[in-house]
Amino acid sequence: MATLNTSILGIEFENPFLLASAPPTASIESIDKAFAMGWGGAVLKTITPDDLEMIEASPRYAAIKEKGKVICLQNIELLSHETVQYWVDGIKYLKEKYPTKVIIASIMAPAERKKWQDLVKTLNDTPIDAYELNFSCPHGMPERNIGMAIGTSAEISTLITAWVKAVATKPVFVKLTPNVTNINWIANAVERAGADGFAAINTVQGFMGINLDTLEPVLNIDGNSTYGGLSGEAVKPIGFRCVAQLRQNSNLPILGMGGISSWKDAAQYIALGSDVVQICTEVMLNGYGIIDSLKSGLLNYLETKGFNDISELKNIAVSKIISHEKLNKKSHLYPSIDNEKCVKCGKCAKICSESEYHALSLDNNCLCIDKEQCAGCSLCSHVCPKEAIQMC
Ligand SMILES: Cc1cc2nc3c(=O)[nH]c(=O)nc-3n(C[C@H](O)[C@H](O)[C@H](O)COP(=O)(O)O)c2cc1C
Repeated sequence: MATLNTSILGIEFENPFLLASAPPTASIESIDKAFAMGWGGAVLKTITPDDLEMIEASPRYAAIKEKGKVICLQNIELLSHETVQYWVDGIKYLKEKYPTKVIIASIMAPAERKKWQDLVKTLNDTPIDAYELNFSCPHGMPERNIGMAIGTSAEISTLITAWVKAVATKPVFVKLTPNVTNINWIANAVERAGADGFAAINTVQGFMGINLDTLEPVLNIDGNSTYGGLSGEAVKPIGFRCVAQLRQNSNLPILGMGGISSWKDAAQYIALGSDVVQICTEVMLNGYGIIDSLKSGLLNYLETKGFNDISELKNIAVSKIISHEKLNKKSHLYPSIDNEKCVKCGKCAKICSESEYHALSLDNNCLCIDKEQCAGCSLCSHVCPKEAIQMC
């Protein structure tokens, strides 16, 4: 029998599914409900010193949908609106009621030693399991020289990690931004400063666009807008890339996230180096109840594969990501057409000829492949509206 139990730095997780720091962890009442429903842990909505003002804009979300489902969310939400004392009391309440659940305090403060250390010293007295330093919020905070303004500077990230490590009595994870040229520049800096692990990714900075009727931004706040953070399925490849790059560069534990909507996404994050995973947007779209299928799906997968626990899946795919130079250039696939599915629309042939190659042609209702001309690029299989082309 496989198990979902796992541990990081001595912290025991009953399952690897954590709520990410976000609206689903913005109140003790909500986290209480999520724990009762089976989540393994929660990263609290980012806690800040009480004098750091949080005034929200309305609306704060915009979305890209596909067939009615949100695949990309843009948000401009700020941090926790609750006081530090609210969290101190709430953490104690939650830990007493759910001693086996993992509680991680996400924190952020202005770049002043005393502000960070006071916050940490206060939270040290609570039964949290770890800290997550939010160096990565891409909106609202950077213009106040915090959030992503910290996490895009190796110098400031180093400084603040060292301040926190000097007083923290629990492991310290640094939540990294994908909005840098190379995530390992910042990861290396905070690791050298004593960070115990990484959390990645926070949202990807973006802008949802312009309404061409009104000529005003899609995320419209009284006619104006601001750059926001993108999350959900659309950012998953960026999260995968960042987590794999972190793992190829360091052995520290990773709390992986970004676009997880199913156990399959979680399993891939683990195979790419995550120790456990966090989820935000999918919970915001479908509620805490998704935990049941996450847990049963992952457990079933582990058993099917003959793995005893996720440590046997962890990192398994990391070595498969190599330089382009080292890829086997002798491997060459060709399109194979399923004539039962193909409706002879000719789209593949048109795209093939207009995107450099001239390997596919539609003559007399017959789709032909010129293997000499075929680069084996696979574009035809992706544009086929009937999914009638497979590469083999
Ligand atoms: C509305 C919203 C609010 C968020 N607030 C926070 C926050 O307070 N602190 C933080 O570290 N990350 C915050 N995040 C980022 C998430 O924790 C997570 O890193 C990101 O959304 C990617 O995961 P996902 O695709 O599962 O949503 C927020 C994300 C959203 C969508």
